[in-house]
Amino acid sequence: MVRQREAVERLPAYVQGKSLADAVKLSSNENPYPPLASVADAVRDRLSTFHLYPDMGAVALRERIAAQHGVRPEEVAVGAGSVEVASQLINASAGQGDEVVFPWRSFEAYPILVQVAGATPVPVPLTADERHDLDAMAAAVTDRTRVVFICTPNNPTGTVVRADELERFLAAVPKDVLVVIDEAYVHFDTAPDSADGLDFFRRHENVAVLHTFSKAYGLAGLRVGYAIAPERVATNLRRVSVPFAVTDLAQTAAIASLDAEAELDARVELIVAERERVLAALREQGWAAVDSFGNFVWLRTGERTPEIDGALRDGGVVGRAYGVDGLRVTIGSPEMNDRFLAAIAAIPAASAE
Ligand SMILES: Cc1ncc(COP(=O)(O)O)c(C=O)c1O
Repeated sequence: MVRQREAVERLPAYVQGKSLADAVKLSSNENPYPPLASVADAVRDRLSTFHLYPDMGAVALRERIAAQHGVRPEEVAVGAGSVEVASQLINASAGQGDEVVFPWRSFEAYPILVQVAGATPVPVPLTADERHDLDAMAAAVTDRTRVVFICTPNNPTGTVVRADELERFLAAVPKDVLVVIDEAYVHFDTAPDSADGLDFFRRHENVAVLHTFSKAYGLAGLRVGYAIAPERVATNLRRVSVPFAVTDLAQTAAIASLDAEAELDARVELIVAERERVLAALREQGWAAVDSFGNFVWLRTGERTPEIDGALRDGGVVGRAYGVDGLRVTIGSPEMNDRFLAAIAAIPAASAE
């Protein structure tokens, strides 16, 4: 039999949000709105050249991102979605015998990517109010720790890390440990005291920020994300990246999206307003939901999770169930959210805890 890495064969597969015919798909934190006309036009203009390889250095895109954030292009690294960039960050920093600390529950790719790199995942449970336990995370850092992930807003709970608590955390973590602030949902974050990843990047030599075009910008299907990292780290991210992973169409769409910021912001505002409406309606129905600052809401449904997930599907709505922890439901268009609220209204909330 062909030899394969044992660590790989033990890995759980990454679970994609499910779709069901005739059901509303609220399982993948996607943007419910179709591509903007200007972005679609820019992509269409490049359709006649996809027999050629893309610019491997993604120079134009990195320059545009750098200008957007007031950093240098040398501090920007791109990948096929921010999940690929997260993988680059781990591969560049941690190998066999090294540890990577992250909150749990959080983005489910973290433990998988860490094990693929041959490193050891160190998940640190969230607090009872669904937030990062930064004291416990700082205590989990050892001589072997190479990377710490901070996910704010956190997927799937929607809670944020405050600037003051992150400042304290960074003071407690050695400068040779890379702290990655994953801000996939930053555009939806309306909390007044959240940590601003770029501000931390500018003031701390060991901080990298992870951003994506998949959520607020609605380019999930084109796969493009980036890190802003200290130049030495960013150079290494390019070294470990899959060559040509970010297609020309993705690079083009990302630049066009940065040029359409005002239009995209209007969509983000709609999603945020819908999130607040959905949260209020859920609480009205008796569900205990924490405040969320992403494009999704989180219900800690515990043992009842599979039952509630099934009842929602019967009602024509697919959310994302996490074992017996809880259920995450993406904020969609007003019509999609109405279907979710109607479906969940049919489920008794009182005994959900
Ligand atoms: C916290 C977080 N980070 C990163 C990603 C990766 O997104 P993408 O690879 O589409 O950029 C996701 C996707 O759901 C996420 O929730």
